[in-house]
Amino acid sequence: MTGQVRGVQLARLLGQWHALPGRRRSPDYAALAGAVRGLLADGRLPLGVRLPAERELAEALRISRTTVTAAYRQLRETGHLASRRGAGSWTMLPGNHRVASTGLWTPLDDREMLDLGVAALAAPPQLLSAARAATEDLPRYLSGAGYHPTGIIELREAVADAYTARGLPTSAEQIMVTSGTQHALDLVLRLALAPGGTVLVESPTYPNALAALAGRRARVSTHGLAADTGWEPDLLLGSLRQTRPKLAYLIPEFQNPTGHLMPATLREQVVAAAHAVGTDLIIDESFVDLSMDGTELPPPVATYDRHSRVISIGGMSKPYWGGLRIGWVRASAPQVQRLAAVRVGVDMASPVLDQLVAVHLLADAEAIVADRRVQLAVQRDALLGALAHRLPEWRVTVPRGGVTLWAELDGPVSSALARAAEEVGVRLAPGPRFGLDGTMERFLRLPFTLPAADLVEAVERLAAIRYDLDRADRQRWREPAVIA
Ligand SMILES: Cc1ncc(COP(=O)(O)O)c(C=O)c1O
Repeated sequence: MTGQVRGVQLARLLGQWHALPGRRRSPDYAALAGAVRGLLADGRLPLGVRLPAERELAEALRISRTTVTAAYRQLRETGHLASRRGAGSWTMLPGNHRVASTGLWTPLDDREMLDLGVAALAAPPQLLSAARAATEDLPRYLSGAGYHPTGIIELREAVADAYTARGLPTSAEQIMVTSGTQHALDLVLRLALAPGGTVLVESPTYPNALAALAGRRARVSTHGLAADTGWEPDLLLGSLRQTRPKLAYLIPEFQNPTGHLMPATLREQVVAAAHAVGTDLIIDESFVDLSMDGTELPPPVATYDRHSRVISIGGMSKPYWGGLRIGWVRASAPQVQRLAAVRVGVDMASPVLDQLVAVHLLADAEAIVADRRVQLAVQRDALLGALAHRLPEWRVTVPRGGVTLWAELDGPVSSALARAAEEVGVRLAPGPRFGLDGTMERFLRLPFTLPAADLVEAVERLAAIRYDLDRADRQRWREPAVIA
């Protein structure tokens, strides 16, 4: 990643650095260095960015330049900063520590294991009847060759109607059916990003999106989300303006993994800023149907788009079933045609039968989605209750939708916890999986997609091993976690 963080931006990120707990006896420069290390460890300050010049940061923080000089010196000594005379100072981690953030990520078939690595629900009961109804429809298609690169028309219409119902008038020509949202992302990247192109993503973000970007050899920069409030408008808009990426990939509805919902004003500002600097936006709406607690959704990001800058992607996996492998892209009609041309070199088309199942599920969307929201709210509350009871030191922001909690742990133990959890039959996706740099060891994504009793049991097991970790050989914590 390349880029620069300005004095005022770093000052904003540092917040109350001088009043951090436990600093009573440490001098200002050490507290400042500690706060910068904290931002790096949490992934809020990316690796490889240039820090402001000492004088600029001193002005922004209203402290003496000598304090900043001493803090930078300490950061260099601890391996968190690399400086070159006349060129500036860049963030890094000691020993070039990196943790794999991409790789194989499979649900387990081991029924004994409580799998909290995958954030997806089992199929709804309506799936079987939809599948039966789909086989009845199939004869209508059997006289043709069955290749529909943009999808069968009835599914494209159903998806377009759902966008229109959300207040975003959409025609079937603007929809392309894909084999899942991940496939949609990959196709859009193939169309819109030359190898080595620049992409801005949230940090933390969805690991398989990072894998898709790595597959395109994208140069990725990050916008660090605050654990409690999510996007920081000035910083996000500033990053867009400064780095002028070719693409930005954002998950505005119940972001995976943090669960945050982007407000309407920021949606509008992001689209305007993206247009001003020539950035195209890929908006992943995987969780848009899954709001809870009566939370009203802001308008779709594409509502603010006047220049075909926004490509929306979404799919059936989260509200319905991942095993269907049905997703889609919403773009301009010419973009859809170009995507179809790209697709011919990949997989030609999605299965007709699965698309027909999706049509039947979407016809029953209101009832199915209403059940899912109730189910998810019950499971979320069971998970929150178990955490409050058994792991009260962990901090969570209650998500108003989606399927995941982003827990802030009581120490940088996420990978160590995931390793130990396997041994007690719980599979976890540790924090570093959701970032680029091996940071975010103080965070853990916890999906609430398993039945409530399983979630409570998983938290029981985690609580037991959490306290054992403190007694274990600390060396184990420092090994980088590689999950393949
Ligand atoms: C944000 C996000 N995008 C895409 C996907 C992949 O979805 P699909 O199963 O439709 O490919 C997921 C699944 O977890 C996700 O969370």
